[in-house]
Amino acid sequence: MNQSVSSVATEDRFQLATYKKMPIVAERGESVWLYTSDGEKYLDLYGGHAVAGTGHCHPHVVNALREQAGQLIFYSNLVYSNTRARAAEKLVSIAPSSLTKAFFCNSGTEANENAMRMARMATGREKILTFSGGFHGRTADSISATFLGKYRDIGKPNVPGHLEAEFGNIDAVQALADDTVAAIMLEPIQSMGGVRMAQPDFYRALRTLCDERGIVLIYDEVQTGVGRTGEWFFAGSEAGDGVVPDVVTLAKALGSGVPVGACLVSEAISSHIKENDLGTTFGGGMLAMAAVTATLEAIENDGMLENVRRVEAYLRRRLREVRQVVAVHGRGFLLGIEFEDNAAAVHKRLIERKIITGTSSNPKVLRLLPPLCLTEEHIDAFVLAADFHG
Ligand SMILES: Cc1ncc(COP(=O)(O)O)c(C=O)c1O
Repeated sequence: MNQSVSSVATEDRFQLATYKKMPIVAERGESVWLYTSDGEKYLDLYGGHAVAGTGHCHPHVVNALREQAGQLIFYSNLVYSNTRARAAEKLVSIAPSSLTKAFFCNSGTEANENAMRMARMATGREKILTFSGGFHGRTADSISATFLGKYRDIGKPNVPGHLEAEFGNIDAVQALADDTVAAIMLEPIQSMGGVRMAQPDFYRALRTLCDERGIVLIYDEVQTGVGRTGEWFFAGSEAGDGVVPDVVTLAKALGSGVPVGACLVSEAISSHIKENDLGTTFGGGMLAMAAVTATLEAIENDGMLENVRRVEAYLRRRLREVRQVVAVHGRGFLLGIEFEDNAAAVHKRLIERKIITGTSSNPKVLRLLPPLCLTEEHIDAFVLAADFHG
């Protein structure tokens, strides 16, 4: 039995089958490429689930991790650390200026749980309003905030006090967001929901409403953050009419694959949080913090934000030639290519031709979440392989 066949059989036998896997045994990664144990090479337009923002094994990140691993892998928040201090300072320095403090945790769902908890602490209220089609994670409070497909059902019993509004519909929000609501939380671009974005004035109207009614505005930027839209964050960007929320949550690309999550918070929120209100053993650990600093530096040093904007424009131009493409949704490298028909055939064809893309809850939408270093040459390879007319 060759090595790949054996790995598939062993994993199927010993790992709980909670994901529908692609027929790929990943062994090594470099930039936009994923190499299998059979020596095959895949173009990764899915970025390992939006995680490989700097690409696979970016040398700057790898060096930082090697160095940190030899020095100190972990110590908790009970001590200070140069590595943590640098990461926190760097992250806050690229954030919109009103977000002045970082809380570190380990994943996207944990960042969202903590964001909601902070909102409840800051307001003394309990309810959380989120949107149809949003995804916020799989732990109790986050899954209860996820009005998408079967998630709330599999998360039962749900945490009480979660309200659902239609994404993009400010009247629906106004009708629900009374003075019992602690926070409005949204994915500013709904990724899993089919890469759906609202009009800029919707984000502005949310900000105004939150200010008027004393509600905390939370952007779940687990996917849109850390450069994916061609800006560091959706918060403060033109696409969102410059709106800055009170809390931004991050994970995925923040550590280039080392698990790390974060909440960036304003002074109005942080002033309500005291010692021992929030915590997690691994949050702010040295290896993760070294990954955060190196990730942000790599994006900056390599000019990846400009790259995302340029290559996005090129992809959009190339897709205009394709009759079967009805629309291209999203921003930067969080893109949803909508087809006239089901996108599954294109997704399958691309895997056969060694290109990894993603699907979404909208069967007509193919999702791209590539590393931020993807180039025009890779786009050409994608358009050719997709054989849209085939
Ligand atoms: C927008 C969004 N929020 C939260 C999460 C949950 O993140 P994690 O899987 O790290 O808990 C995800 C994961 O896909 C996500 O896409």
